[in-house]
Amino acid sequence: MYLVYAILSLIYMAGASRAPCVELNDGNLMPIVALGTGRGTAKENESVDEVRKSVFWALEAGYRHIDTASVYDDEEQVGQGIAEAIQKNIVTREEIFVTTKLWNDKHRREQVVPALQESLRRLGLSYVDLYLIHFPVSTKEDGSADYVDYLETWKGMEDAKQLGLVKSIGVSNFNIEQLQRLMANSYTRPVVNEVEVSPTFTQESMVAFCRQNGIVVMGYSPFGFFVGRDSTMKINRSALYKIAEKYHKSFGQVILRYLIERGVVPIPKSTNQKRIEQNIDLFDFSLTEQEVAVISGYNTNKRVIHPVDWKDYPFYPFGQE
Ligand SMILES: NC(=O)c1ccc[n+]([C@@H]2O[C@H](COP(=O)([O-])OP(=O)(O)OC[C@H]3O[C@@H](n4cnc5c(N)ncnc54)[C@H](OP(=O)(O)O)[C@@H]3O)[C@@H](O)[C@H]2O)c1
Ligand SMILES: *[C@@H]1O[C@H](CO)[C@@H](O)[C@H](O)[C@H]1NC(C)=O
Ligand SMILES: *[C@@H]1O[C@H](CO)[C@@H](O)[C@H](O)[C@H]1NC(C)=O
Repeated sequence: MYLVYAILSLIYMAGASRAPCVELNDGNLMPIVALGTGRGTAKENESVDEVRKSVFWALEAGYRHIDTASVYDDEEQVGQGIAEAIQKNIVTREEIFVTTKLWNDKHRREQVVPALQESLRRLGLSYVDLYLIHFPVSTKEDGSADYVDYLETWKGMEDAKQLGLVKSIGVSNFNIEQLQRLMANSYTRPVVNEVEVSPTFTQESMVAFCRQNGIVVMGYSPFGFFVGRDSTMKINRSALYKIAEKYHKSFGQVILRYLIERGVVPIPKSTNQKRIEQNIDLFDFSLTEQEVAVISGYNTNKRVIHPVDWKDYPFYPFGQE
């Protein structure tokens, strides 16, 4: 009897979520590790078929949260990976959390719901769990500057939520003043601000502000400059490697755990099955406060993602960093 029970619970574990959830300010639950699917920053010519495979591998490995965006041009592949996992009884739709994002050229209130409906069609889903305004900046379809205030866009996001097309709404790449202005002028508070956070871009004040205001920070490009994006950036990795050795973990796992210790939801992106598995295997160790401080010591105040082409556009969120 005991043996049968043990085997059953092992089977259950194999298909179960590997990451716990955080409660959002609207009461919904969100798994605290998300698979990244955006291809632009790491490998420009990676094929979208790799996205389909990585989404499936991730769900198989116990991820329950997938991060995509209309601008990544991979929502169809994300949807295919999800459909395959559902068809193979690895997950049900209700067990997973899907995040997608509204692009800058759909910021008018009446454009938001149709844009989300297009995303849902590509994903093959009837709702998403989280919809984000990708940037506070608005553009025309040709990419030139437009002047739509994100307060107007937010009303369209509220419409989408009202219609049941999305469970929770939030923002991405908003700075602190923009979050303050949004909260002061809206009925619905954003549940999330998705911004760059890594050991090389630590975002102390953003993380503190969001914590005080009940907004969860999702951290993109979590590996920062540790994954060889800028060969001129000299990083002395020995302190990080020492911590990794202590816990018998890879440097990547230590970085992701570091974000979790800080209350940030990491969005690691990988198309390699082994690293996908590694990147959710984060819940059998924890870092001391001192180790978190050592890792924060890698801060360079330099962003991986810096869309300088928009620096003169209205509502551009970033400074000189
Ligand atoms: N909201 C926004 O504006 C925004 C902006 C940028 C990104 N994002 C989101 O955040 C996600 C992640 O950001 P990102 O793609 O810029 O960067 P990232 O996750 O920091 O880095 C991805 C790179 O790290 C490598 N890698 C992954 N796991 C590793 C590990 N354990 N050890 C060593 N190397 C590892 C990957 O290579 P392999 O594939 O070979 O493993 C890939 O080259 C995106 O996919 C997207 O979903 C959002
Ligand atoms: C990606 O494209 C660039 C040029 O467009 C090429 O030099 C490089 O080898 C390609 N990388 C891969 C992995 O195909
Ligand atoms: C890297 O840092 C360690 C201490 O953490 C130090 O012992 C070592 O000399 C440094 N290496 C270089 C090349 O600066």
